[in-house]
Amino acid sequence: MHFSASIALLLGSAVAALQSPHQRITQKVQKSTPLLTSEAPHVYRNHSYLNAKTKRFAVNGSALPDVDFNIGESYAGTLPNTPSGNSSLFFWFFPSKNPAASDEITIWLNGGPGCSSLVGLLQENGPFLWQPGTYAPIQNPYSWVNLTNMVWVDQPAGTGFSPGPPTVNDETDVAKQFMDFWKRFVDTFGLQGRKVYITGESYAGQYIPYIASAMLDKEDTKYFNVKGIQINDPSINEDDTLIEAPSVLALNHFKNVFALNETFMTDINKRAEECGYNEFMENALTYPPKGKLPTAPDSSRPGCDVWESIISAAYYVNPCFNIYHLTDFCPYTWNTMGFPSLAGGPNNYFNRSDVQAVIHAPPTNYLVCGEYNVFPKGDKSVPSALGPLPSVIERTNNTIIGHGWLDFLLFANGTLATIQNMTWNGAQGFQKPPKEPLFVPYHAGLAELGEGTAPTPFTQDAGAGYLGTAHTERGLTFTSVYLSGHEIPQYVPGAAYRQLEFLLGRVKSLSTIGNYTTLP
Ligand SMILES: *[C@@H]1O[C@H](CO)[C@@H](O)[C@H](O)[C@H]1NC(C)=O
Ligand SMILES: *[C@@H]1O[C@H](CO)[C@@H](O)[C@H](O)[C@H]1NC(C)=O
Ligand SMILES: *[C@@H]1O[C@H](CO)[C@@H](O)[C@H](O)[C@H]1NC(C)=O
Ligand SMILES: *[C@@H]1O[C@H](CO)[C@@H](O)[C@H](O)[C@H]1NC(C)=O
Ligand SMILES: *[C@@H]1O[C@H](CO)[C@@H](O)[C@H](O)[C@H]1NC(C)=O
Ligand SMILES: *[C@@H]1O[C@H](CO)[C@@H](O)[C@H](O)[C@H]1NC(C)=O
Ligand SMILES: *[C@@H]1O[C@H](CO)[C@@H](O)[C@H](O)[C@H]1NC(C)=O
Ligand SMILES: *[C@@H]1O[C@H](CO)[C@@H](O)[C@H](O)[C@H]1NC(C)=O
Ligand SMILES: *[C@@H]1O[C@H](CO)[C@@H](O)[C@H](O)[C@H]1NC(C)=O
Repeated sequence: MHFSASIALLLGSAVAALQSPHQRITQKVQKSTPLLTSEAPHVYRNHSYLNAKTKRFAVNGSALPDVDFNIGESYAGTLPNTPSGNSSLFFWFFPSKNPAASDEITIWLNGGPGCSSLVGLLQENGPFLWQPGTYAPIQNPYSWVNLTNMVWVDQPAGTGFSPGPPTVNDETDVAKQFMDFWKRFVDTFGLQGRKVYITGESYAGQYIPYIASAMLDKEDTKYFNVKGIQINDPSINEDDTLIEAPSVLALNHFKNVFALNETFMTDINKRAEECGYNEFMENALTYPPKGKLPTAPDSSRPGCDVWESIISAAYYVNPCFNIYHLTDFCPYTWNTMGFPSLAGGPNNYFNRSDVQAVIHAPPTNYLVCGEYNVFPKGDKSVPSALGPLPSVIERTNNTIIGHGWLDFLLFANGTLATIQNMTWNGAQGFQKPPKEPLFVPYHAGLAELGEGTAPTPFTQDAGAGYLGTAHTERGLTFTSVYLSGHEIPQYVPGAAYRQLEFLLGRVKSLSTIGNYTTLP
């Protein structure tokens, strides 16, 4: 199936470039768990989840190498995914001090397939960040832990710190193994009956609707009380719809940034026309939709892999072109997640054994993406939008699909085409164009920034104002963020934070200013 092959390939080849021939190094000696409470009570004094069952997972918040502040209460380690799987999944759980969060638990999953969710924790929405190009970790003012209880999970087995070998062949396997893990997680931390929110990005657009649907099927609110999902820049349909068909539209939209030559621009537009992409997109982006769409034009026909041609042309002009964020230029930024193609080089924070010991990770030759092909025989499931996604929308009436406009891997217009072809809650697609504004509250210091009187360093580094679009119909919200790449919490953290508030029901509208003129 030509489904997200490009994503897997890209991540795969990037990683393969520097990967040594051997696979995972499994050291024989497991570091012993430090004794808690009596030794240094101050570190754990305020820990509300610390008990006999959880103490083997407690993370010493002062002990993370290179992090010169206490990251707060958290728990990490592995729990089995048996009997559906044969392994265990790694999690890192951060309880929130926010009183509104007491009946919630929110999951974050990165995609790939096969990318560790710790890239989300460390570079997107975690309580501390070490973002590309920065020299030291900082506290994240837009940490999702401010709002709710968060757990980042490496899954399916074979991803990040979750030991392989992978044993999933489709998304039903993914969901079953996740749920076996999840019951144990809930029992360990006493989270029975909590509202469960599942969030993530990219290939998690495939994982999450399947996991949420399988959970809802159980009708078991003790463990699987799913109340909403959010998928950003998601893999929810065939690549031809999400990637190929909208790519020339997007190139034209951002042509001044790409600066490709006229011969190429003329040729690629001619090919988009001849391959049928323009006609397909014009039909797809109609409100209300005129009827069901066919499958997107087949990009494997000669001359029709237009996305690939754009990428190759882009590299000639801008050797540091980044499909995840199309406005990147040279030089590449230093990246502590060790992305080989992005000049991560030797900097691979989670591959350090001292880091692994603090978070009770199995000693691992950690690769952010692609240690294993986590679907050894491919993902046999149909794309989530043609599968369980509509029913998850109907059963929660609380689904957010978010998209960054500066993503050149998956396109907002491809996602919209997919939405317009989906039927949920009694109608097909959006009836009106999704163009209401996404409003993100202003916060202290932002106005002073323009006047040069803001404190330096200015750590609330997120924009505010009308930052994109937000539109809701029949339980589905589509948001787009103009200045975000593939990872919304990384590029426009204020917008991601606002969307989480909406998902959790803390704010009623994404478009109105409401009472907020500064951060709540
Ligand atoms: C524990 O909580 C108290 C009161 O909220 C606070 O003053 C103190 O700093 C906290 N201690 C730690 C180690 O976080
Ligand atoms: C937590 O880490 C700090 C910094 O490494 C250390 O001083 C302290 O003893 C540790 N506490 C425990 C209980 O391990
Ligand atoms: C787990 O391992 C057992 C024994 O090797 C095997 O029979 C079973 O099929 C495996 N399960 C999965 C999900 O791979
Ligand atoms: C998150 O909480 C911290 C500590 O209470 C606070 O300084 C920060 O402003 C909060 N962030 C947001 C976006 O509300
Ligand atoms: C999305 O499609 C609309 C309508 O065809 C077009 O005006 C817009 O430029 C496209 N945006 C991008 C980023 O491709
Ligand atoms: C639209 O939905 C139909 C099924 O209802 C499916 O056959 C077709 O492939 C879909 N097209 C796209 C572009 O999603
Ligand atoms: C224009 O771009 C294409 C695609 O990268 C390239 O093959 C061609 O050589 C370029 N033409 C000139 C004159 O640079
Ligand atoms: C991780 O560390 C091990 C040994 O410390 C090293 O052999 C391996 O190459 C590292 N892997 C990556 C991806 O950095
Ligand atoms: C979801 O909303 C629809 C109206 O769009 C309503 O008919 C349905 O009962 C709602 N479902 C749930 C689970 O709230």
